[in-house]
Amino acid sequence: MNTASAISPSARRAQEYEPVWQELAAAVDARVAAGERNLSRVVSSVYHEWRGHDVARANGVAFGEVVALPRSALAGARRALIAQTVIAACRPDTSLIVELGSGPGLNLCDVFLGGGPPGAAYAGLELTRSGRDCLTKLAALDAGFDCEARFFDYHAPDLRLLDDHRGHLVVFTVHSIEQIREISGELFEQIIDRADRVSGIHFEPVGWQIEGRESGRYSSRAYAQSAGYNENLLQILSELESRSRLTVDSIVPDIFSHKAKNASTLVTWTTAGRAP
Ligand SMILES: C[S@@+](CC[C@H](N)C(=O)[O-])C[C@H]1O[C@@H](n2cnc3c(N)ncnc32)[C@H](O)[C@@H]1O
Repeated sequence: MNTASAISPSARRAQEYEPVWQELAAAVDARVAAGERNLSRVVSSVYHEWRGHDVARANGVAFGEVVALPRSALAGARRALIAQTVIAACRPDTSLIVELGSGPGLNLCDVFLGGGPPGAAYAGLELTRSGRDCLTKLAALDAGFDCEARFFDYHAPDLRLLDDHRGHLVVFTVHSIEQIREISGELFEQIIDRADRVSGIHFEPVGWQIEGRESGRYSSRAYAQSAGYNENLLQILSELESRSRLTVDSIVPDIFSHKAKNASTLVTWTTAGRAP
């Protein structure tokens, strides 16, 4: 039997990402061992060591066009875009902010540090142990950051965490649904059924799923198929919208990438929800 096909899609992704997040967790440990205790300083230095902190000219993508910027500026712009978009979705009644497929948890830290609601709980739901460990180490640096990392597998989602929170939920993803070739509508139904009111935000390379954009330059069906990436997020959201389970509020194709490939498309949705 071919070993590649003998393991599950989740196990294959875990094999790929465990060592990546282990390295980031070790970078956090190194800073703490050197006496650093400030969450913001640790997150920034680890992020830029990972994504680039030099002034070399690098190509990224903004609104479907190539943009050339110093590499550190592309990395910084990406951080700001993700964090500020999530923060903008928060409201006075936001009680929980969840990232699905949160990897090392840097996005969640950026949301909190960038001005996310101080009284809300934050949660990183992630497949890999090393990713969860990295977020746990980061969250321990700031007593005011109510954040936990939990095991999560898109293929067998456990969303019981949502039952413990009332009010408005912000749930976001950053290139993690991309890892799931066919995402199930059931996942979104579970989220909607468990929460009072929900805002969903996705930065995922799905611009090619918009009718007429299949062969886009910075996200395309061909690239998604070759990488085993998601092929149905927009279709699933559209089906949920047609059944009035949610409203898709915006789709901004190929809004940004720090590389000239696999650009993120921003998709946002909301539910009307139950009365407060
Ligand atoms: C490209 S990384 C993005 C990580 C994080 N969202 C970020 O922006 O830093 C993809 C993430 O999806 C996670 N992932 C892959 N398959 C998954 C699955 N079946 N369930 C949950 N997470 C998964 C990986 O472990 C990895 O952390």
